[in-house]
Amino acid sequence: MTAARPVERRNDRAALRFAKAGLRRLYDPLERGAERLFSPALNPVAQLGTITFFLFWVVAVSGVYLFIFFDTGVVNAYSSVEWISGPHWYHAGVMRSLHRYASDLMVVTMVLHLLREFSLDRYRGTRWFSWFTGVPLIWFLYVSGITGYWLVWDELAQYVAVVSAKLLDVFPIFGEPLARNFLTPAHLSGRFFSLLVFLHIAIPLILLLGMWIHIQRISRPRTNPPRLLAALVLAALVAVSLWKPALSQGPADLTKVPDEIGIDWFYLPLYPLAEDWGAWSLWALMVGVSTMLAAMPWLPPFRRPPAAEIDLPNCNGCNRCVEDCPYEAIRLVPRTDDEPFPHQAEVDPDLCVSCGICMGSCPSSTPFRRQQDLKTGIDLPGQPLSEVRDSVVAASAGLSGERRVMVLACEHGAGGGDLGGVVAFPCVAMVPPSLIDFILSKDLADGVVVAGCSESTCYNRLGVEWTKQRFAGERDPYLRKRVPRERLATIWASPFETGRYEAEKAAFAAGLPAQAARKPAAAQGGDKAMEAQP
Ligand code: HEM
Ligand code: SF4
Ligand code: SF4
Repeated sequence: MTAARPVERRNDRAALRFAKAGLRRLYDPLERGAERLFSPALNPVAQLGTITFFLFWVVAVSGVYLFIFFDTGVVNAYSSVEWISGPHWYHAGVMRSLHRYASDLMVVTMVLHLLREFSLDRYRGTRWFSWFTGVPLIWFLYVSGITGYWLVWDELAQYVAVVSAKLLDVFPIFGEPLARNFLTPAHLSGRFFSLLVFLHIAIPLILLLGMWIHIQRISRPRTNPPRLLAALVLAALVAVSLWKPALSQGPADLTKVPDEIGIDWFYLPLYPLAEDWGAWSLWALMVGVSTMLAAMPWLPPFRRPPAAEIDLPNCNGCNRCVEDCPYEAIRLVPRTDDEPFPHQAEVDPDLCVSCGICMGSCPSSTPFRRQQDLKTGIDLPGQPLSEVRDSVVAASAGLSGERRVMVLACEHGAGGGDLGGVVAFPCVAMVPPSLIDFILSKDLADGVVVAGCSESTCYNRLGVEWTKQRFAGERDPYLRKRVPRERLATIWASPFETGRYEAEKAAFAAGLPAQAARKPAAAQGGDKAMEAQP
């Protein structure tokens, strides 16, 4: 039996497909393990972006505290930092370590976040914006960290200063070579040091602005991790700060070349290369990788399924689709026809990813309507409601046995690969709850499984959450009370969890009353229900 599938959209190059699948194999067990350990809501792997935001605030607050005690002059910078980590280790020293370790962790969470979004293929098509605006964030974060190391004015700072000057001096932007500042102590001016302090404050502020821009194209972006998770991250940082405080290396001395320096591999992994390869080669590498990263959403361009479309006679401007769209693609505009409603919905096709969530949220999306040409207020041209209704009827015809189970599956979850009695959707939240009512009351199946992505890894960000809220009666359109809950199951499982998916589906089917033991559902009021619907 073949499953009804939505429009194919995931065109990709073989190498990229391979890389994504490989990464998913690494991430998936991590995510599932973290879900079990922390609960899906607290899963840190699904919160890498919010944790990065949180770390920024830890770095900002600890930085402001350090600034109170830090001497911004080149002569006393080192001794003020020694004072912080020495006699005042218990407050300023801990803050210094927090500042250092939160910055290091920011690099880790940012890189893991980038790889995770890539592996989930959430960066192409109309979702290019967050990816593209993420690339400058890498630069701003690195430059913020590098200017920070410079300020301590110890041996590592001296090394950073000399290599950075070498890198910058290939561009004729400064009147005289920067490297001249580091020839002898007499050459190093206080003004230059003040410029560094200014940069170390200004660049993180630009980073913050960039982070704000980064999330502008998604609705209800989460920028704060759950409180408990934030507390755990902070507690871990404080513990590491007390166990291994961040300390300076020997004071900078421009008359000497330091024998050995401890490099910070989070921020300075490329610095040793500058000496081996030369400045131009390193610039070529950094600019080349950044350009390639920035171009990735178009390598290859996504095959864009048609955007959602409004059918004005069926739209009353209720705002539900606007509330539910995860990508800010819908807004309400003044009415353009004679209907007695002040507003109508309008879709921006450049922002729509064709997830279908809006179709699932529209009050007009009810398969009970008797019209031949079933229409709804907002529909997906690639898989319209009328076709969805035909698909469930066709899938029902293929079901047999005493306990017939129909699966309404998200194509990104474990159920998407199932081949028996499945109707697949780009997102489970495209399923209007009335479709389940329709299937059960019309006796098209004995039980319905709604199978989505794993709980904390919803491909469309909010699909799992909206579905749960609709079924719990907490969000419109909610699942009607008359739908027998024992005949409905939800399974949240990733494509790597087909074993669990199959086992849960089989257990659900086994628990259903056999057909012979039940009165035919239609006789229980299915047809009456049809008439009662709009
Ligand atoms: C300072 C560094 C960064 C921070 C604080 C950050 C934070 C975030 C946050 C909070 C979200 C929204 C999560 C949600 O509510 O769904 C997000 C989404 C995203 N980020 Fe980042 N991010 C950073 C760097 C990057 C980088 C370097 C890239 C890739 C180049 C990237 C790519 C993405 C993508 C593709 C999304 C998903 C957009 C979607 O679902 O359509 N981010 N980021
Ligand atoms: S299909 Fe609907 S919910 Fe999904 S992005 Fe497009 S307008 Fe938004
Ligand atoms: S949910 Fe349907 S009726 Fe409500 S505004 Fe959107 S398209 Fe119109």
